[in-house]
Amino acid sequence: MSKILVTGGSGYIGSHTIVALLEAGYEVVSIDDHSRSHDFIMDRIEQITGTEVVNHRINLVDRPALEAFFQREHHGITGVIHFAAFKAVGESSANPLLYFENNLVGQMNLMRCVEQYSIPHFVFSSSCTVYGNPESLPVTEHSPLLEPESPYGRTKVIGEAFLRDWVKVSATRVVALRYFNPVGAHPSALIGEFSRGIPENLLPYITQTAAGIRERLTIYGRDYPTRDGTCVRDYLHVCDVAQAHVAAIRHLGEHADAPSFDVFNLGSGVGQTVLEMVQAFEEVSGAPLAYSFGERRTGDVVAVYADNTKAREQLGWTTQYSLQDMLRTAWAWEQALSQSYNAHP
Ligand code: WQD
Repeated sequence: MSKILVTGGSGYIGSHTIVALLEAGYEVVSIDDHSRSHDFIMDRIEQITGTEVVNHRINLVDRPALEAFFQREHHGITGVIHFAAFKAVGESSANPLLYFENNLVGQMNLMRCVEQYSIPHFVFSSSCTVYGNPESLPVTEHSPLLEPESPYGRTKVIGEAFLRDWVKVSATRVVALRYFNPVGAHPSALIGEFSRGIPENLLPYITQTAAGIRERLTIYGRDYPTRDGTCVRDYLHVCDVAQAHVAAIRHLGEHADAPSFDVFNLGSGVGQTVLEMVQAFEEVSGAPLAYSFGERRTGDVVAVYADNTKAREQLGWTTQYSLQDMLRTAWAWEQALSQSYNAHP
């Protein structure tokens, strides 16, 4: 049985990917310092899968601690899926050095250990933000990498560049997955997206508004050159994103002749406007949502959505969850959070 190391395993996409890996028959070990996640997530994963996953509480920037982990635990690890990074666009603009150190120094330390212990497969969590404000849509993996919207996005562009150069002299082969907008939660409502403070992202803000935690949603701009004036994004279910990581690890294991570095867009291929997301959510929740229109948000791209042909043809991956599934599971997760908060304030 192949053992996969998941960094950031207690995080939003990391936890859903661990569930998918376990259900696909992989053994999993996690590294997560819980700086942006919670220590009970591994218990929730065990509740879902029946399998205990050990998490090692290590910050990847702490190179001695990471090297000690690999020295003890590298046996049987055939692949690494690297999620552990900060990802708040606004925070990264306010504190770029925090993001460069955490995301890039952490990644370099990890790459050194992967090389030292000759781990053959590496999957990197990248983002559609590397495309900046694309001039033509849908974006393919050959679309130009334009100026990223934030230092967070910069760490994804640089992170991919590190890997492109490294594979030329390393035996490790790499797949970078460029996520569009992952949303929703596991159908069990035991794992999902946690927001620290006021949510930056659209879906958590919508569900917290519906739950009465926020007074109203502000839609950032309605004067964009789109079908209803609001921004267009490619939303996809987090469980579909998780399945893509299993497909990527399997692809690396089954195709020794695959390129040493390759990238895949992870999107549904469909663009939805912000207003369409709000209206679809109202249908799912059965209640009107309080919202108003405000000024544009700095750094927002007008429209971005994926051409997902390459992942479909080469990874055998397509999205299985509908927009309604995304919104329904996001709402169920928010309600579960509210119930657990009310039970344990
Ligand atoms: C989506 C749309 C907002 C909140 C970011 C990162 C990206 C990825 C996903 C990590 C935009 C609008 C939002 C609100 C709104 N993160 N919006 N009111 O900016 O597309 O992508 O998160 O990988 O890398 O850049 O996602 O959810 O923040 O915004 O109107 O209260 O919703 O203007 O048009 P974004 P988002």
